[in-house]
Amino acid sequence: MTALTLSTSSAATLRADAVVVGLAKGAKGAVLAPGAQAVDKAFDGKLTAVLETLGASGAEGEITKLPATGLKAPVVLAVGLGEAPAADEDYDLDTLRRAAGCAARALGGTKKAGFALPAEDAESVAAVAEGALMGAYAFTAYRSNGDAKAGRGKADAKSAPLAEVALLGAKPRDKAHKAAAERAEALAAEVNRARDLINTPSNDLTPKSFAAQAQAAGKEFGLKVEVLDEKALKKGGYGGLMGVGQGSDNPPRLVRVAYTHPKAEKTLAFVGKGITYDSGGISLKPAGHNETMKCDMSGAAAVFAAVVAAARLGLAVNVTGWLALAENMPSGNAMRPGDVLTMYNGKTVEVLNTDAEGRLVLADALTRASEERPDAIVDVATLTGAMVLALGNRTFGIMANDDAFRASLHEIAEEAGEPAWPMPMPSELRRTMDSPVADLKNIGERAGGGLLAGVFLQEFVGEGITWAHLDIAGPAFHESAPFGYTPKGGTGSSVRTLVLLAERTAAGDLG
Ligand code: BES
Ligand code: MN
Ligand code: ZN
Repeated sequence: MTALTLSTSSAATLRADAVVVGLAKGAKGAVLAPGAQAVDKAFDGKLTAVLETLGASGAEGEITKLPATGLKAPVVLAVGLGEAPAADEDYDLDTLRRAAGCAARALGGTKKAGFALPAEDAESVAAVAEGALMGAYAFTAYRSNGDAKAGRGKADAKSAPLAEVALLGAKPRDKAHKAAAERAEALAAEVNRARDLINTPSNDLTPKSFAAQAQAAGKEFGLKVEVLDEKALKKGGYGGLMGVGQGSDNPPRLVRVAYTHPKAEKTLAFVGKGITYDSGGISLKPAGHNETMKCDMSGAAAVFAAVVAAARLGLAVNVTGWLALAENMPSGNAMRPGDVLTMYNGKTVEVLNTDAEGRLVLADALTRASEERPDAIVDVATLTGAMVLALGNRTFGIMANDDAFRASLHEIAEEAGEPAWPMPMPSELRRTMDSPVADLKNIGERAGGGLLAGVFLQEFVGEGITWAHLDIAGPAFHESAPFGYTPKGGTGSSVRTLVLLAERTAAGDLG
């Protein structure tokens, strides 16, 4: 991963390939953001004028590169921050995160850059560090560079991410700054772990290989990892996981990844949908709807990454991750529309659409997680196309059986820099899932399909347990041009929200 340092050098003397400054839109033209003074001085105080002459305006995401004079670094890169804040206000933290990410992306293929962006307080140090480290991401594991003998993972230098980020202006001896940088490193590393898992094609990321990665990380970070294989799942009565997985040559797994802290007073359970490929099953998806379905394990990737992050940060809270892993394929063994499954909690489900598979694997995992009576459960899933239609590609939906918990999660997500929105769970949707043969169907009324899925899941949450459901189908996988710190492909959506929830819980900030 990209290295991060808090540098005491000035922008003028830093040995690097480039120095990054921020440029914003002021009332009367472009203005440099705090942190750029030393660079501006090297340009005789004319840096803004030079940038404007080059056409820069300070618009968000705008990148302007120019040869440097009077600096050790040969290049200055100005990144647009958008509207400058009022004179008595600071830059919004996600603005800094996105700008740092943008700059880091624009510096892919270079070795080292100094970031002369605002860094007065620990919060802005954290934001710039997070943004830069998340922006400096590239998935190169499958690039061969055209060299059959060299094989995969031999990317050319140009597609490699920026190798070293030096934050200028931050104070390496300030405890709060140091802690902010260390937290940013752990957080970005885990967001990037989730992205790698999501981007890995389904021919290599199967339930079994995902479980093996969890076991390896367990050894590395001191987590307790237990894997239920298809035999154990069958014996245990996990009808949802078995039903969804039975059509695939890659059998299902349920993985429990537990981080514990001796001083923990609370336990959180995170449950992730881990469909390593969603073809739709016998209710096969049409062409145009299956190209990105390797991303259907994004929930499990986020949960796994968040548990590892909790361990890296040594949080005083217990966090148990449940990865509900299966591949949804059509075959002679596949579950058929009309089949009835007996779920882990004993309820029977008539499967009328095999493409509504996420709720089936989550149902078993939610029941299993509930048995341990955690203080709260949060499940994360690329669950419905309906949520994408409702909230778009960048915002996830939050449903819950507790209004205060839903509101807290919304606030936490916004603070983490992850757009989210509260969604209702109208109780009248339940009867649209009434089945003529079983306890319920896995589909119901089409209107409000994302909400209906939440209502289905609620049936499998243990009595009296606080629970929330994050439908990340929109933001989990980014198909258009990169922006801010968001690359193409897997985004690591909800990792930062889960980690901040764990931090808040450890601090005793949540009921
Ligand atoms: N994995 C999909 C949902 C999805 C859609 C994720 C788009 C990411 C992007 C899920 O398993 C699915 O197929 N849901 C169906 C449910 C329907 C059959 C009730 C859907 O949303 O169409
Ligand atoms: Mn599906
Ligand atoms: Zn799915």
